[in-house]
Amino acid sequence: MKKVVTCSQMKLLDHETIHSMHVPSLVLMERAALAVRDEIVKYLLGKNPDGSWQHERVLAVCGSGNNGGDGIAIARLLHLSGIHTEIFLAGNPDKMTEETRRQWEIAASYQVPVTNNPVWSEYTVIADGIFGVGLSREIAGKYREIIDCMNQAEACKVAVDIPSGIHGDTGAILGVAFKADMTVTFAYRKRGLCLYPGRMYAGKVVTADIGIYDRDPKGIQIAEKAACHMEQTDLAELPLRAPWGNKGTFGKVLLIAGSPGMCGAACLSASAALHGGAGMVKIQTVEENRVPLQTLLPEAMVTCEFNEEANQKNLSWCDVLVIGPGLGTDGVGRERMLWFLKNGAAAKKPVVIDADGLNLLAEHPEWQEFINENTILTPHMGEMSRLTGSSISHLKEDPAAAAFEFADRSGGACVLKDACTVIADQEEHLYFNLSGNSGMATAGSGDVLSGITAAVLCMYHSQEEKPPVSYQAAMAVYIHGRCGDFALRKKGTHGMTAQDLIEALPEILKLSEG
Ligand code: APR
Repeated sequence: MKKVVTCSQMKLLDHETIHSMHVPSLVLMERAALAVRDEIVKYLLGKNPDGSWQHERVLAVCGSGNNGGDGIAIARLLHLSGIHTEIFLAGNPDKMTEETRRQWEIAASYQVPVTNNPVWSEYTVIADGIFGVGLSREIAGKYREIIDCMNQAEACKVAVDIPSGIHGDTGAILGVAFKADMTVTFAYRKRGLCLYPGRMYAGKVVTADIGIYDRDPKGIQIAEKAACHMEQTDLAELPLRAPWGNKGTFGKVLLIAGSPGMCGAACLSASAALHGGAGMVKIQTVEENRVPLQTLLPEAMVTCEFNEEANQKNLSWCDVLVIGPGLGTDGVGRERMLWFLKNGAAAKKPVVIDADGLNLLAEHPEWQEFINENTILTPHMGEMSRLTGSSISHLKEDPAAAAFEFADRSGGACVLKDACTVIADQEEHLYFNLSGNSGMATAGSGDVLSGITAAVLCMYHSQEEKPPVSYQAAMAVYIHGRCGDFALRKKGTHGMTAQDLIEALPEILKLSEG
C-alpha cells in the first residue's frame, strides 16, 4: 500500500523535516527539482535516444510560492544538463518566498535564460510550477490566461507536485487547471491526485522520495493516520489457499438475491464469488429464478425456501452473507432482507449489503441498528444520496468525508463507489482506489463487486489474524478495478460488460500467486 496525504498533512511533514530534523528547505527543494529533472530528461531521451536535444526547448512557468522555487531549480538543473531551458516568472517578484528568492538568485548566477513573453508554441516541454499545495482560492486574472496558454501549447506538460488549479484535498478545479501529461509529486500522493477531476488533470503520476521525515510533532508515524491506495504488490498479501483445504475450508457464501425479472444480478454476483475463489455459493432467491440460475451457473446451489427453519440452517451454514443484488424492494424483498440482516448481525457474520439492500435500508433507517463492524455497505453515489439525504453534487465535493461520516453513523465499513471509489470505516481507515476505468460503468458491474468482496472475505474468514473489513473491501475494490483494466485491453471501454470482469478475475488473482 502507498500513502495518500492531505495538503495539511504534507505541510506538517515538510515543517517537521525542516524544523525538527533540521533538513534545510533548500535541500528538499533541490531533491524535488532533481526528481523532476530526471523525469524530463527521461522523456527527452525517449524522443532523442542519442541525447541530441539541441532542438528541444523547455519552459518552466513559476509562481512566487515554493512551487515556483521548485520550478526555478528545475530550470537551472536542466540548463546545466545542456538542455535549452527558460524561466517564465508568472508570480509576483515582490511576493517571493525566501526559498524562491534564493532560487531566483542562483538561477541568475548560472545565467539561466528568463523570458517575459513566451511564445508558447516553441517549447517541447512545459513545466508547471505556478501553484502547488499552497493554492488557496480560485485562480483568476493573468494566472488564468497563462494556464489557458499552457494548456493550448502542444508541448509535453509536466506538473510539479500537483497541477496548478487542482485542489490538493478534493481534486476539484479551482477556476482553471493545468492539464498535465505527467505529474511528479513529492513524498506522497496527494488526495487531489486520486480524486476526479484532479486525477484526470495529473496524467501519469510519479511519486518521488525527497527525504521527507514521516512523523508528526507527536512522533506518530504518518502511516498510522494517512489514507492509502492499493497496488499490485498488495495482491501478494492475500492468504494462500491451503494445500490441504477442501471446498468447505475456502468459504461458503450465502447470497440473498434476485427477484422476478432480476435474476441476472444474482447470477453475476454468485459467479464473481465462485471465480474469486469462494468454496461454495448458495443463492437464496424466488421460485421464478431457480431454473435460470441452475442453468446459467451449475456450480451454485439455489434455494427458494424462506421460513424460520430453512433460514436458520442456511445462515449457520454460511461464512459470508451478501444481501441485495436484484433483491427488489417489494414486501418479499423487504422480509428476506430484514430476516438475514437481523440474524446475520446477531450471528456476527460478515455481511455485504449492496444494491436493493441499500435501497431498503434507505427506506428503513431504523434497520441500521443491525449494522456492525462486520458489515460492508457498498453504495454508489445515487444510493448514498438516498441513504443520507445529501445531494450527489454535495457528496462529490468531498467523498472521503462522506464515506467517513456514513461509516461513523452506520457503524459498518463504507465503500462509496465512483470513478475513484473511497473506502472508510469507523476506525479512521481510509482508502482511495486507483484501479479501473470508465468501461466498468456498465450494468452488473456492482453485482460483480459484491461477489468479489464476498470472495475476499472468504479468503480471510479462517485466518486467525484478520485485517479490518475495510482493508478487505479495499482489496476487493482494487481487484475489481484490475479486472476492468484487464478487460480494457481486450474489449475497450465501449464493449466491456460485467461478464468480462468475471472472466478477467482468475487472471488478476493469479498475480497474487507470484
Ligand atoms: N491566485 C493567486 N495567488 C494564489 C492563489 C490564487 N488563486 N492561491 C494561492 N496563492 C498564493 C498564496 O498566497 C501563496 O503566496 O500562491 C502562493 C502559494 O504558492 P505554493 O507554491 O502553492 O505554496 P507554498 O506553500 O509556498 O509551496 C508549496 O512547495 O514544497 C513545494 O511544490 C511543493 O506544492 C509544494 C509547494
